Amino acid sequence: MTGTSTAPVSDLAKSFTLFSPEYQQDPAPFYARLRSECPIAHSEQAGGFWMISRYEDQRYILQHPEIYSSKTLILGSKLSDEIGLGPDIPIMYDPPVHGKYRKIIISALSKANVERYEQLAIDTARRLIDDMVAAGEVNFTTAFATPFPTTIFCAVMGIPVADLDRFVGWKEEFNRLGLSHDKEVAAEVNRRVFGEMADYFSHLIQQRRADEAAGLVADPQSDLVGVLMHGQYDNERPLTDKELINYCILVFKGGMDTVTNVLGMTFYHLASDLNLRNQLLTDPELIPSAIEEFLRYEPVITGLREVVAEDAIGGVTFKPGDIVMLLNIAGARDPEQFEAPDTIDLQRTPNRHLAFGAGPHRCLGSHLARMELTVALREIHARMPNYRLDDRFPHRFRLGYLRGVEDLHLIIGQ
Ligand code: HEM
Repeated sequence: MTGTSTAPVSDLAKSFTLFSPEYQQDPAPFYARLRSECPIAHSEQAGGFWMISRYEDQRYILQHPEIYSSKTLILGSKLSDEIGLGPDIPIMYDPPVHGKYRKIIISALSKANVERYEQLAIDTARRLIDDMVAAGEVNFTTAFATPFPTTIFCAVMGIPVADLDRFVGWKEEFNRLGLSHDKEVAAEVNRRVFGEMADYFSHLIQQRRADEAAGLVADPQSDLVGVLMHGQYDNERPLTDKELINYCILVFKGGMDTVTNVLGMTFYHLASDLNLRNQLLTDPELIPSAIEEFLRYEPVITGLREVVAEDAIGGVTFKPGDIVMLLNIAGARDPEQFEAPDTIDLQRTPNRHLAFGAGPHRCLGSHLARMELTVALREIHARMPNYRLDDRFPHRFRLGYLRGVEDLHLIIGQ
């Protein structure tokens, strides 16, 4: 309806939120109108915010943290700050403080380091695929897209895999209401969810210290929790317990659900379009560029920034305190940047997408995410090449801050 509405798009923008029902299935037609007719539009919802739809404008904003601060990343609740932990580390800090926190975990998430987890990823994928093949009909979201990356994530973090279900539960509750624009609802959920998570990490850290003191830990820095416990802020001091817990929660938020949603969107397209899937089956060498293309075509995260110094883009002046929302799906389909942007081209090159962000906050987990996505595409297509959408189920998508498909039902082997 919105894509074909004759109302000026700037009027439609006034009532836009990431949760408006009319944009959940497919925001792209509305975003395309914004990009060409009103690239800096204004919504009056949730306190008011500017909607940025052109790729170059988005890139510029991400690369200028001195004008566009990360101190506001969502419009609803203050996330970890709801329980007095302060802004999320490192993602809600600006340079130079941001870099001092970020440096602590960069090498732990380097390409070389995440390769250590590849065998675990392969074994986990094979086990889950065997179960899917045996079942014949599956909810891919719960059968693979959730347990696969979260199992690996637990190992990377150093969280016992036995506790995985608790994390999945927290993640689901947080996603359902914690990101809502309704501050009261979001704050209540986040106080509970992050309160429980803070208790969890506090106990985990205490236990780890006791084990280390008792000489029970061979390599204290073999996982992210250990790296954080032994890391130094600015080569000056260790992190306080409050900072440690805050950082653990943020890495959890960054790493638990993003890959799940990318897997859901990717396999939705591969299950709907046999031609795409056949390209990957006949030429598995395409997997790396295919991953970049799915990341571009369906970027799952919508980012936000708060203006801290006056600036103008496209004739619109932003004042300190203004909020800008980067409509990533609009930027990803910008014809000024990408040729035939509405086509999924598995060989697209170059592909300078912004799915992992840009500038100082560029995703720290991109190597881990790429490794997981590579293993998933390779193993699924090697062992279960035939699958299609199960049309008995409607496929419901969500926009929100984290785009995804709610439940992806597949029929395997036909
Ligand atoms: C395909 C999956 C993923 C996508 C699409 C994604 C996307 C992003 C984006 C867009 C940002 C920048 C946010 C901003 O500028 O405000 C970001 C930051 C971040 N991501 Fe990811 N991410 C993914 C996977 C992961 C994983 C697996 C981890 C965990 C290890 C992770 C950890 C982080 C962290 C810690 C940051 C904050 C970096 C900073 O502030 O310097 N991400 N991610």
